[in-house]
Amino acid sequence: MAELLPVCALAELPPGAMRLVMHGDLEIGVFNCAGSVYAIEDRCSHDDGPLVEGSLDERACTIECPRHGARFDLRTGRPLTLPAYQPVDTFPVIIDDDMIKLEVG
Ligand code: FES
Repeated sequence: MAELLPVCALAELPPGAMRLVMHGDLEIGVFNCAGSVYAIEDRCSHDDGPLVEGSLDERACTIECPRHGARFDLRTGRPLTLPAYQPVDTFPVIIDDDMIKLEVG
């Protein structure tokens, strides 16, 4: 059974906000795109760039890697632009009693 990783209260991650959570060796970026929350591994598939430090486009629901500019769809983890061509892992987000939780493992 998947483990639920608590992140924070929904009110602590308003639209446009992002935060980093750790789960063992894994770093996960959690993003609020215009009211919808998504979580992806915080490691660009091109060269390990820290995606949570990148630029969030809430309307398109994408994050741009701060290192070489690849853009990823936060809903799917798929790259939309080079130089990345492999997806990054995504994690299901559960809102439980106004708390954000991630399904991990
Ligand atoms: S490390 Fe992300 S685009 Fe190169």
